[in-house]
Amino acid sequence: MKQVESLKAPGWLQRIELILTPIGYWERAFESHPEAFWAKGVDWGSPLMMFYTPQAVQQIIENRDKHLGIVSFPGELTAIFGNNSVATSEGDRHQIFRKILMPPLHGKQVHNYGKLICEITHQVMQELPINQPFLAWEVAQDITLQVLIKILFGSAQKERYQQIKNLIVSLLNLFAAKTARFPLLRFFPKVLGHRNFGQKFLQIRQQIEQLSYAEITERRTCIEPDKTDMLSLLMLFRDEHGHPLTDVEILDNLLLLLSTGNESTTAAICWLWYCVYRNPEIQEKLLQEIENLGDFSNPNSFYRLPYLTAVCNETLRMYPITMFILPRGVNTPTEIAGYKLQPGNLVSISNYLLHRQENLYPEPSKFKPERFIERQFSAYEFIPFGGGIRNCIGAELALYLMKLILVTTVSEYQLVLANKQPVKPQSRNANLAPIALQLVKHSNSKNMT
Ligand code: HEM
Repeated sequence: MKQVESLKAPGWLQRIELILTPIGYWERAFESHPEAFWAKGVDWGSPLMMFYTPQAVQQIIENRDKHLGIVSFPGELTAIFGNNSVATSEGDRHQIFRKILMPPLHGKQVHNYGKLICEITHQVMQELPINQPFLAWEVAQDITLQVLIKILFGSAQKERYQQIKNLIVSLLNLFAAKTARFPLLRFFPKVLGHRNFGQKFLQIRQQIEQLSYAEITERRTCIEPDKTDMLSLLMLFRDEHGHPLTDVEILDNLLLLLSTGNESTTAAICWLWYCVYRNPEIQEKLLQEIENLGDFSNPNSFYRLPYLTAVCNETLRMYPITMFILPRGVNTPTEIAGYKLQPGNLVSISNYLLHRQENLYPEPSKFKPERFIERQFSAYEFIPFGGGIRNCIGAELALYLMKLILVTTVSEYQLVLANKQPVKPQSRNANLAPIALQLVKHSNSKNMT
């Protein structure tokens, strides 16, 4: 049996390193530990072993002997989206929430959002000033949140939904600015207790709660059983005893989707813009593929374009937003890839390091979409959305958003990077994001239709 080692630096230093130089943290770990290490930089409450070889990934994701189970989030994270959502529950409740939330985020339902995504992207892009740098994050977040609000509430028009949207942005920015550097989240209660930040945070959270509960109460007076928006599905659900979800469960799930779904997709869109707009050759190939398709009337026809798909995959390979998957708890003694684990330990997979394995991805630091055309990667080799019992329920929607937003901006607007310097990947609310990325919209917007 192999022995797992820790990095030499003390835990507190690793946490700070993961905040300030996330890429440096992973790369330094890999240099001294090519298969696994105790990742003290990720503070989830118990010792956490990080893996990143396909063999270990397969064992963790398949979890054949059921040695691994779901663990909830550290208490501090639940300060944002409560502790009654799909991401913070275990067992039956976790399964029930997944069953309710998945249909609007999958298959035909997602394809129904195609026109909406393109329209919202146009509307946001057209409002941007010409020849002036803009923060990619703000624009991508605006588009993503408008789409999510529509999926969650069935409409984006109502004043109340716009208020919720603006409050979510304030909440996430506040969290990002002050404490959301993930490794420090465990200190959150102290901050929450006695600083202005804590009061502001609670104030915004309460405003979101009040608006959401007002919406729930209003909808109860006129239930429409045919509605398929997320809030209606959560409200219409009955378990085998005929019990509905509680209001808190409904609220926490809405908040979870609006916060995590929005943050991760926004980061992915920004990385995608960064990777494409710094490389004119890739932009040209994409344009060629889109033009060859010829039919612009149906946004869904873009979805399967091979080069577009490869560009999105390569972006998520190089910048897997979450950097590692949600930790699993060890229930009974087990081993993974020859390493012994005890009950109470946690395991996770660094998709950042897995995606940089040279034997899978030659020249891993190069952005080469072709690798996804030349080779099919298995579910243990490419895992931007995790896998198994906790895989991302928003993966299909996220890819759909990435593809349609990119097609719209590349084919119809002339965007360039405001700055030729490489963007520094930073931690934002537990994600790897190009926070400082700026783009410029030139006056001569294209129009291919
Ligand atoms: C590019 C964008 C996104 C990325 C990279 C991403 C990535 C991930 C990853 C790695 C996980 C953990 C999976 C695991 O541990 O096996 C996860 C879980 C989750 N994601 Fe995403 N995600 C994205 C977008 C979204 C969207 C749009 C939504 C919903 C609107 C969403 C909702 C969730 C939820 C609810 C979970 C927890 C599932 C559970 O606990 O069972 N994600 N995501």
